[in-house]
Amino acid sequence: MTQSALPESAMPAVPPRILLGPGPSNVSPRVLQAMMQPMIGYMDPDFMLIMDEVAELLKRVYQSGDAKTMALSGTGSAGMEAGLTNLLEPGDTVVMCIYGFFCERMVDMATRVGANVVPLRADWGRPFPEELLEAELKRHSKVKLVTAIHAETSTGVRQPIGELARIAKAHDALLMVDAVTSLGGNEVSFDDWGADYAYSATQKCLGCPPGMSPVAVSEQAIDAMRQRKQPPMSWYLDLSLLGNYWGWEGQRVYHHTAPVSMILALREGLRQALGEGLPERYARHARNAHALSAGLEALGLGCIVPAEHRLAQITVVSIPDGVEDMQVRQRLLRGYGIEIGGGLGEFAGKVWRVGLMGESSKAEYVLALLSALERSLPEFGYEVAAGAGVAAASDALKSEG
Ligand SMILES: Cc1ncc(COP(=O)(O)O)c(C=O)c1O
Repeated sequence: MTQSALPESAMPAVPPRILLGPGPSNVSPRVLQAMMQPMIGYMDPDFMLIMDEVAELLKRVYQSGDAKTMALSGTGSAGMEAGLTNLLEPGDTVVMCIYGFFCERMVDMATRVGANVVPLRADWGRPFPEELLEAELKRHSKVKLVTAIHAETSTGVRQPIGELARIAKAHDALLMVDAVTSLGGNEVSFDDWGADYAYSATQKCLGCPPGMSPVAVSEQAIDAMRQRKQPPMSWYLDLSLLGNYWGWEGQRVYHHTAPVSMILALREGLRQALGEGLPERYARHARNAHALSAGLEALGLGCIVPAEHRLAQITVVSIPDGVEDMQVRQRLLRGYGIEIGGGLGEFAGKVWRVGLMGESSKAEYVLALLSALERSLPEFGYEVAAGAGVAAASDALKSEG
């Protein structure tokens, strides 16, 4: 039997894109090149050294001296699910601060674990009011876990974590923080916060492809896992078993076939982030986001989050009345190769989400998007002054040097 290869014309090509959505973001050539290295065994002593380096670099981006770190095989949701399945047992009480779409995903997961879930719902587009947490924790004799999201990608809000952490600690609860969109783009202060479990994803501000979820776990959380009455229902996401593969207890025990090329990518992404310098990286994200919001506002596209609570890596703007969400996004994609994101949950069809994350946070991408919007919006009945957005963004960039 002969096997004919696919003709080259039938091979699906990946068109170049400027990825300004909520992730994945663009991946640097250095990271792509790192993925092209030869395959190596997942128990090879030289690969173990690479894993050690990744764990060490993760401690630095999480700003932790003592946390145990590793990267789970899976996306950010794997980190979320691992935290909830390992830190909670059926019947444990978890108080969840809810102010966006991804917070609601946590509620769904914790419910499946069989925990006693207490969702505290607050307005989308504003930081979660800390007094709600304080009042709720006073009502319970024992809360095992409090959850919060540092960077709610569905709303663009930067949630101050420090005060939530203080309240959780005062009530002897563990704190789990979602740093999916913040790690590498915002300061994540695992130790200073007093967090017990944090998780992220490779495809956002770390500038890698999607596929891994870097996590940090405190000694207190590890103790809580040791004291479980029964093992977590997920074998694949059992953090104690995975910790044994990552050498948390000294030895290395096979768990599953690690995604070698993704770990190489993550190492390079982390080296690049730390090579740039974390403060410099945060400042770059802030500068470009400021220029973007100045440009969007000059086009009449209002940001839904007040400036002081806005994230630098995702900007959420209202879609003007009468303009159809998908038509504009399709025009940007097909006409200019630029991807931006739509709204989720109660924001679906009402907002656009523009991500400037990691490798995608560049002044030239801000200007490219604004000029593409200036040309596209009038095609869909929304008149804008040509050049106004680009001019406002350029001024903002100039004034910040
Ligand atoms: C804040 C937040 N948490 C969790 C997730 C889920 O991550 P993933 O899509 O990588 O599974 C996302 C995805 O965008 C997110 O923005």
